[in-house]
Amino acid sequence: MGEESERIMSMEEQGQDDWQYSLRPRRLNEYIGQDKVKENLSVFIKAALSRGEALDHVLLYGPPGLGKTTLAGIIANELGVNFRVTSGPAIERSGDLAALLTNLNERDVLFIDEIHRLSHNVEEVLYSAMEDYALDIIIGKGPSARSIRLDIAPFTLVGATTKAGSLAPPLRDRFGVIARLEYYTDEALYEIVRRAAGLLDIIMDEDGAREIAKRSRGTPRIANRLLKRVRDFAQIMGDGRITAKMADEALMRLEVDHAGLDNTDRRMLDTMIRKFSGGPVGLDTLAAAISEDRDTIEDVYEPYLLQLGFINRTPRGRVVTRAGYMHMGVQYPEE
Ligand code: ADE
Repeated sequence: MGEESERIMSMEEQGQDDWQYSLRPRRLNEYIGQDKVKENLSVFIKAALSRGEALDHVLLYGPPGLGKTTLAGIIANELGVNFRVTSGPAIERSGDLAALLTNLNERDVLFIDEIHRLSHNVEEVLYSAMEDYALDIIIGKGPSARSIRLDIAPFTLVGATTKAGSLAPPLRDRFGVIARLEYYTDEALYEIVRRAAGLLDIIMDEDGAREIAKRSRGTPRIANRLLKRVRDFAQIMGDGRITAKMADEALMRLEVDHAGLDNTDRRMLDTMIRKFSGGPVGLDTLAAAISEDRDTIEDVYEPYLLQLGFINRTPRGRVVTRAGYMHMGVQYPEE
């Protein structure tokens, strides 16, 4: 595991997150937030069910930790079918995909996480599977090679990606439903933290929940993780109850600031301000300066800093905004 996955604010799933499975909502009506996506999916699911057909293929995209896998599982539950999970990098050869596809039952959901990382060969096999529920298999080699078509059960592919833009257009076009997940509002995160606390028997007052919600980067996976860590502090340093004061104290110790930024976010802003005079600075230059992976910056740090309005993207690179300077306590350089 890289450095990113060990951060308390990491959006990646972590080994110790297994407990999160018990927190995962299983039905659409338990799933909090993402209202537009939820309402639309509910209609498509009901329509497919009443026609007795497989649901159209669904592409979910957005920053990590927003519940794409959870939502895919819910889709399968609502359809009353099996849920098979894999990921782009895990499917190495087209034969691996063929094996998965031929084992599906009628209307099953196949979930492919990080679908933008499928190899080209594998992607090719997926096209006919998605479009015609068929596999084109080449038998033999050289002049005597021939292609046979194998029918598979009608199924629903749910693909997830952090970057819809990096999906090959022919793949993207084969999804009937494309849904973008947004960062959660503080209100939705508040509800999520309350729900999790209830399931984990954590005593927490309303302001405690609000404090955690506000500092969770709009991301349920982080909210649930912070809730657990704050509970530890409350148990050892307090009376076990999570109040706003206790949450604030714990989050300070975890170096999660009032806007929900962690060390790495602040290091990025600080470097942009001090080393590059606030920018513009190119992604690769910035990645080298803070020794972080370019893709991680692009998929993980940047989207939230953009959302907060602390940085902007310009054709010449990233710049820190006035709000970003203010957050870092540095005077904004006036022209
Ligand atoms: N836990 C994690 N994400 C959730 C969501 N969107 N709704 C309810 N509980 C959750």
